[in-house]
Amino acid sequence: MKDADAAQRITELREAIHRHDYLYYVETRPEISDAEYDALVRELRDLEARFPDLVTPDSPTQRVAGAPTTAFRPVEHRVAMLSLDSTTSADELREFEARIRRALPGTRFAYVCEPKIDGLGIALLYEHGRLVRGATRGDGRVGEDVTANLRTIRSIPVVLRAPLAGAAGLEVRGEVYMPRAAFAQLNRTLEEAGDPTFANPRNAAAGAVRQKDPAITARRPLDAFLYHLSWAEGVKLDTHSETLKALRAAGFRVNPRTERCASIDEVIAYCERLESERDELGYDADGAVVKVDGLEHQRHLGSTTHHPRWAVAFKFAARQATTVVKRIEVQVGKTGALTPVAELEPVELAGVVIRNVSLHNEDEIRRKDVRAGDTVLIERAGDVIPYVVQVVAAKRPPHTAPFRFPDRCPACEGVAFRPEGEAYWRCTNTACPAQFKERLKHFGSRRAMDIEGLGDAAIDQLVDRGLVRDFADLYDREKVSAERLAELERFAEKSAGNLVAAIDGSKTRGLARLLNALGIRMVGERVAQVLAARFRSMDRLARASLAELADVHGIGEQIAQSVKTFFDEQANRTVIERLARFGVVMAEEGAEDEAPRPLEGKTFVVTGTLAGMTRDEARERIQRLGGRVTSSVSKKTDYVVVGESPGSKADDARRLGVTILDEAAFAALVDA
Ligand code: IVH
Repeated sequence: MKDADAAQRITELREAIHRHDYLYYVETRPEISDAEYDALVRELRDLEARFPDLVTPDSPTQRVAGAPTTAFRPVEHRVAMLSLDSTTSADELREFEARIRRALPGTRFAYVCEPKIDGLGIALLYEHGRLVRGATRGDGRVGEDVTANLRTIRSIPVVLRAPLAGAAGLEVRGEVYMPRAAFAQLNRTLEEAGDPTFANPRNAAAGAVRQKDPAITARRPLDAFLYHLSWAEGVKLDTHSETLKALRAAGFRVNPRTERCASIDEVIAYCERLESERDELGYDADGAVVKVDGLEHQRHLGSTTHHPRWAVAFKFAARQATTVVKRIEVQVGKTGALTPVAELEPVELAGVVIRNVSLHNEDEIRRKDVRAGDTVLIERAGDVIPYVVQVVAAKRPPHTAPFRFPDRCPACEGVAFRPEGEAYWRCTNTACPAQFKERLKHFGSRRAMDIEGLGDAAIDQLVDRGLVRDFADLYDREKVSAERLAELERFAEKSAGNLVAAIDGSKTRGLARLLNALGIRMVGERVAQVLAARFRSMDRLARASLAELADVHGIGEQIAQSVKTFFDEQANRTVIERLARFGVVMAEEGAEDEAPRPLEGKTFVVTGTLAGMTRDEARERIQRLGGRVTSSVSKKTDYVVVGESPGSKADDARRLGVTILDEAAFAALVDA
């Protein structure tokens, strides 16, 4: 790159970063994801390193970031609130260790690892054990005085206990955040009141902390974790882990997932485990923070102008990105529901390329006002399907129009209508081939009949050529044979033979999977298992009365009615008879004797890592014995099974007085 080009690019990057800093820190209304922002900063740093003559004092790399608003009294931090250098891989964590080893040769380092809370950095000043001031991070040098608001957060102590109560002055730092469940509830309430909702818990927390009226802040469900003692007069501590113990004893909320690690290998294991469990934390964490434990080591290592050298963030894979909506199309589901789907400019998110995202229904599209051409912020949380968080209003091109829902099925031109009180438009044509294709796709899917090779291409051709008109046709070798399949596009002799073998192989999946596969309304995998366990054969299920069905634990009136309606329909009975004739197994294997259900009616939550089984196995054991497994602890929970490094659920259990089982006690219960 030539000097002139570099200078031009550097100017562009600086302007962009300044603007995004302002949007993020001042307006708390970011337009790009953290990962995209980090990429801009990295590009600028790299360029400035290659062209050091072009570095100027006003470059965003030369100061911390952003400018505070003037609404609250400014607070100058006695010690700057730095940001953290970040790593994204095990190798980079090892490089971090190599770096500090070079700075302090011959030292054995221990570390403390903590979740990196995706909230709002705060600094709390205490004098003689009393909270006298609470400030936001602001630009790291000057923050805002939000004492009145922070005081409303009940996990922030107003008066300290030993051993820190006696200090003439001290400052504690941490993070204010909004728990996920509270965030969801807040958005529901706002939505019901017709008020705008928040895009994520971080924005909701930032909005609440910067409320002009503390009474409003008090009504917002905020919480805080404290993790750093920046200075404390007359207090002597040797390690960060001791500091955390002292903070906890003094009354601060310290993250229970904090762990001391004796080596970088343990650090790496912690980071990987935390990332895999990030969805169970109950709050947003965007990484882990790794800190050198020894305070003397920390002092020796010191800080750059941006970040301490004794700590580093391990960033989880990004889950938010911005991209452009190419167009919005409407897809037909297996029950005829019409779903609007945004076709995106492909974008990578947490290791997966996202090309489409569901916009759910007419009301959702209207609420978010997503239009073709819009730039949208999308998010993918854990294994959850990606969704649109919000439209980036500033990037909307001119001359776009709100999306208009079609009143005809895009697949068959049948009349579409939206029943009163329902969210979905539906295609009313029962012969709509698009609907049947979706049902067939579900029939062959992994958790249903698991027919490998029955993909979109095969389904399209089989249905379009009239070979398969119902599920039973699949098993009819006069209609679907290896020879016939081999004539289809994209089918060779071998793949045709394989598909026929896979279809034949699916005959013995058993009743539960077959029931799931049939796509009876309201009968998904779980209900199918319950029905199969109770009735054991298709015949008995088909003959069950409405009362008998509704009597089954876990089956309500509505499901019972739906099952009854399904079997009352002659066409459905005919398909089932033909399936049976072609050899599809209609009973549940090994279900002849009703298994004992000692855990009937009991509710479990499983948290942490178990040594003897995976969490899925634990769940299956509980369910097999009649128990129920839920994801969050409430007063109604009977048992919380706690493994290694449990999350906040173990704390919840203690707080609510729910019985806690360690692994041995749990094993005794399910093996008994
Ligand atoms: S330690 C000198 N620990 O991340 C101490 N920071 O990118 C530096 N953060 O501004 C901070 N969780 O707001 C630390 N467990 C944690 C954290 C944490 C979240 C935030 C904090 C900081 C930013 C740095």
